[in-house]
Amino acid sequence: MRQTEPDVYRPDPAIAASSHVPDADSLREQALADPVGFWADRAEELEWFQKWDTVLDDSEAPFYKWFTGGRTNIVHNCIDRHLTGPNKNKLAFIWMGENGRDHLTFSYFSLNRQVNMMANIIKSMGVVKGDRVTIYLPRIPEVLFAMLACAKIGAVHSVIFAGFSADALASRIDDSESKLVITADGSWVNGKVFPLKDIVDQAVRFSPTVENVIVVRRTHNEVEMDALRDHWYDDLKALPIAKGKCPTEPMDAEDPLFILYTSGSTGKPKAILHTHGGYMVGTYSTLKYTFDIRPEDRWWCTADPGWITGHSYLVYGPTLNGATSFMFEGGPTYPYPNRWWQLIEHYGITSFYTAPTAIRSLMRFGDAWPNRHDLSSLRLLGSVGEPINPEAWQWFHRVVGKGQCPIMDTWWQTETGMFQITQVPGEVQKPGSAGKPFFGQDVEILNEEGEPVSDGDEGFLVLKNPAPAMLRTLYKDDQRYIDTYWSKYPGKYLTGDSARSDSDGYIWIIGRTDDVIKVSGHRLGTAEVESALVSHPAVSEAAAIGLPHEVKGNAIHAYVVLRVGYEPGQELGESLRQHVSQHLSPIAKPDDVQFVDKLPKTRSGKIMRRVLKARAQGLDEGDLSTLDD
Ligand code: WTA
Repeated sequence: MRQTEPDVYRPDPAIAASSHVPDADSLREQALADPVGFWADRAEELEWFQKWDTVLDDSEAPFYKWFTGGRTNIVHNCIDRHLTGPNKNKLAFIWMGENGRDHLTFSYFSLNRQVNMMANIIKSMGVVKGDRVTIYLPRIPEVLFAMLACAKIGAVHSVIFAGFSADALASRIDDSESKLVITADGSWVNGKVFPLKDIVDQAVRFSPTVENVIVVRRTHNEVEMDALRDHWYDDLKALPIAKGKCPTEPMDAEDPLFILYTSGSTGKPKAILHTHGGYMVGTYSTLKYTFDIRPEDRWWCTADPGWITGHSYLVYGPTLNGATSFMFEGGPTYPYPNRWWQLIEHYGITSFYTAPTAIRSLMRFGDAWPNRHDLSSLRLLGSVGEPINPEAWQWFHRVVGKGQCPIMDTWWQTETGMFQITQVPGEVQKPGSAGKPFFGQDVEILNEEGEPVSDGDEGFLVLKNPAPAMLRTLYKDDQRYIDTYWSKYPGKYLTGDSARSDSDGYIWIIGRTDDVIKVSGHRLGTAEVESALVSHPAVSEAAAIGLPHEVKGNAIHAYVVLRVGYEPGQELGESLRQHVSQHLSPIAKPDDVQFVDKLPKTRSGKIMRRVLKARAQGLDEGDLSTLDD
């Protein structure tokens, strides 16, 4: 299918002129001619305890290494280096609670104090450099402190989104062999308490590695405390051990910073591994250029720290840039659908980065809600997580940005750690296109045989060259890393997305080509949903697919074969939906469960989800020659 000429938005030339990148085309050309030089220059803008010997070591490709021989710590650049200059008393974080009353601010100076305290406490629990720590917290300031404190002492954090079930949490804790879990009594979700500590109790009951659990008090619900294992954070803070400075551990550039579990095409989530040096340089520069970070900005990334967007652009990227970042505990529509607009007005947010699903859900409430608020502080908008449909783009641009704010559509992944395809504020934007490869990066769109497709044709999106913030491997699973990303087209990184490009080099993302579904911007694997379903006693086999949904982008539809003795019915369907919600996550709850006698499979027994998908949409089922029956 060929792209008809889309609407094109040409920002006021003054925007480019006053930005970090006045001439994007020439920087793109220059960086692409010498990516290693480009990244070395970016790395020079940050502080290193010892300078690197080699910018890019590709001797063991695809295990690329960046800034080898260099020593730093990302926290030195996120916090320590700001303490000796004008940023010392600048606000690093502004936080607002869901109830609209709890409000805290942290300058870089006070952020440092909080991080030191958390780091001292974590250390006192016997956690040393290289140990893994699981963080299972809501959007409260302690999640920021915990992540930065782990990084500061060289521990590897594994943040689990606080909407995952006990089963999901337990398997991630076990896989990472965490010694310590940091959680809260509960989290606020639309005025109700979600019992985080109970979930942790269930998850760690049989965990062989967890020695301690730190509990932050947030919701004041009753929780059970194990006298030996569990500790109130408030009590720990009062101990002498919590006081005083904690040194920032010098790290090799390639030392691990965190692992983050994400969904892939099997039931076992992938543990994406990122490092101190390259991830630091990548997130710092992509945020600086793409969102033209300026000292006076107030940046708001609405993502949860439990996802990569929260890691890179709520916690690390903004602090690396010495920016002021806002974090809100709640969601966009509670108690009313003006919540976000009210916060933008109240805090004078200048740059607002969110997901298409949120934009679409807010758009449904009409223009009156945003129009009640003065949103004139905004100068830039951003979108991430899934393709933004042109209607949502236009609404975001016209109603939220008052036609004045460029929209940065950023395409990237947990694996890439940083923006890979995007634009800078002064560039021409095409609503629905993610733009062009970031400086120094190159992409290709290939057919099955590995040949580039023509402009306008759909193909597999691959990255042609490594980038500093790209995953180093899958934790404890080098082979799966090679198989998943580097085998289909040797030497090129397979993104798992399909896309097309136009004659101006703009990339249009179409969607996933594997068994990953983006539901409301959240990344879920069909296999995880299926294994949650078959853990129910009534279910013999299950298949999950994503079908287009007006607000969520995709919605999960499940097909279930029952065990003998169980009868299909509405009630059973509902209890299966609840079962997935409880055993995986509420975000994974299928919209719909259908009972079938059998599932379409290949002769080798693989479920043909594409056949289910085509049938559900009334489309051509394609080649059925491998179908067993
Ligand atoms: C999708 C989120 C279109 C894509 C940062 C990718 C997007 C997957 C965009 C990664 C975008 C992300 N336009 N699609 N701007 N951003 N995606 O790991 O399918 O949660 O492969 O990282 O989200 O999801 P993940």
